[in-house]
Amino acid sequence: MANDVILETERLYFRAHILADLDAYCTMEADPDFRRYVGGLPRRREEAEQKFKDGLSQPIIDNLSMWAMVYKPENKYIGRCGVYPHFNSESRPIPGEGAFGVYLDKAYWGMGLATEAGKAFIDFGLNQLKLHRIVTAIDTRNDASVHVIEKIGFKLHQIEKGALRSFYHYIIEPKS
Ligand SMILES: CC(C)(COP(=O)(O)OP(=O)(O)OC[C@H]1O[C@@H](n2cnc3c(N)ncnc32)[C@H](O)[C@@H]1OP(=O)(O)O)[C@@H](O)C(=O)NCCC(=O)NCCS
Repeated sequence: MANDVILETERLYFRAHILADLDAYCTMEADPDFRRYVGGLPRRREEAEQKFKDGLSQPIIDNLSMWAMVYKPENKYIGRCGVYPHFNSESRPIPGEGAFGVYLDKAYWGMGLATEAGKAFIDFGLNQLKLHRIVTAIDTRNDASVHVIEKIGFKLHQIEKGALRSFYHYIIEPKS
């Protein structure tokens, strides 16, 4: 069951994470360029392992998750993407809403893969999961991510200015 493909695009397929993904996951989390706008500091192996166990290895409910991204030409795990539960301020999932994220190994940046994955998951979230809103928050310095998010149809909703980091909050909803 764990290896079932949930979604497929021209160059990618998506499945639940498995233990065999752990080393590649930890390598990504240890890369300062990968982490620059998503957390800031590289994660040590122990921290990354814990994060993997607490998050990506947990049972998936209603198909809302960050799925393992496999690059078909190499049959290789290269990152994660998906629509996961959108939690309110009391850490409860908001019914009918999801949050989008995409994270790729640096070796695969600039090939259009985040855009390809993002388009597929927005279609999946709105048309198959029937969500009425998908949100995402991006560090305002993360130009590549902003570009991807706008290309796949998200609209800027709000700007959150912080002392150290600021965020763009984006939303996408079904066309009425
Ligand atoms: C952000 C990230 C997902 C982009 O992945 P990617 O596969 O390289 O993205 P794509 O190739 O689909 O598209 C990137 C687009 O941004 C553009 N771009 C790249 N760097 C840029 C920059 N510094 N400024 C502006 N645009 C930039 C590219 O030209 C491309 O646009 P184009 O298709 O119009 O030419 C990837 O860099 C990543 O995983 N970063 C680490 C984790 C992260 O920041 N995730 C986002 C948080 S949700």
